[in-house]
Amino acid sequence: MASEWVTFFKSTKIPDNFDDQLLKIKDFAAKNIENGVPVCLITSGGTTVPLESHTVRYLDNFSVGTRGATSAEYLLSADYAVIFLHRRGSLEPFRRHFQHLNILDLLDDSPILNVSFSVKSTHAEQVASVLKKYSVAKSSNRLLMTEFTTLAEYLHLLKGAARILGDFGPKVLFYLAAAVSDFYIPSSQLPEHKIQSSEGALNIQLQMVPKMLRPLVAEWAPRSFTVSFKLETDEKLLIPKAKQALKNYNHQVVVGNILETRKKQIVIVTQSEDKCVRLSEEEISSGKEIEDYIIQEITHRHQMFMAK
Ligand code: PMT
Repeated sequence: MASEWVTFFKSTKIPDNFDDQLLKIKDFAAKNIENGVPVCLITSGGTTVPLESHTVRYLDNFSVGTRGATSAEYLLSADYAVIFLHRRGSLEPFRRHFQHLNILDLLDDSPILNVSFSVKSTHAEQVASVLKKYSVAKSSNRLLMTEFTTLAEYLHLLKGAARILGDFGPKVLFYLAAAVSDFYIPSSQLPEHKIQSSEGALNIQLQMVPKMLRPLVAEWAPRSFTVSFKLETDEKLLIPKAKQALKNYNHQVVVGNILETRKKQIVIVTQSEDKCVRLSEEEISSGKEIEDYIIQEITHRHQMFMAK
């Protein structure tokens, strides 16, 4: 009998430009690893589950991609190359610093007739500091952006990328911070057109999505370093479920977080320890980000893994 994940991939559509995206990933990883730079695939943002083939309605989740986008910047600073597999329209590294601003409000409108613009002095320092880091990442070919929207697009890309990156073994770090749906409707069961409200109340049956951590660790990239995330809303469940995930999938680290406190507190769970990391009140008010600590913890463990 085919494994559940094989059935999932057979029953969902391959994304547009799939081969092109994988070629870019392969080329990017090969060049960086050849230059001695470890590569991290970050997944970020939420996945959608369409309810119709010509999609008007879909199920979604809360994730905006803060964890992934912020972590990408700290990984780049730690000398990693980053493949940023993210939900289209979710937060992106560097751009995230201006998410609440209208770009037109950043520009000085006094020299408008000269066509060349400058940034308003009120924002110049912030733009310069972010732009400098962004330019370094771009010009040194350390950042590759890849997008998905639906759950199926995400999982097809994850599988394709993991199979390619798996060949580079321990030098690759998987950092699975996307919020992935556990339920979906196979393509063959999707209504083609918009569901009509005139037909009354809607009953939908969703199928379980197989946990892709299993084939990722066992088959696609068994020699690489994998970090998964565990999201819970009930604190008592967090560590037991993180431990259970390590036992089930046999990967290296689970980063546990609780929905409401995820920006200031996480727990790093491995086979041998659980380490709670919490920002102090002073750190929070000085703008410290918890991803700075998460990346220090993860890169340290990944370096030891590579050294073995
Ligand atoms: O984006 P933000 O708003 O900053 O929020 C960040 C976050 C809370 C989304 C992030 O920190 C996080 O916890 N991401 C994982 C959310 C999630 O999918 O948790 P889970 O408990 O449902 O899944 C656990 C792990 O299994 C995940 O690493 C996921 O990649 C993996 N998974 C999930 C479903 C599935 N079918 N196959 C999987 O392999």
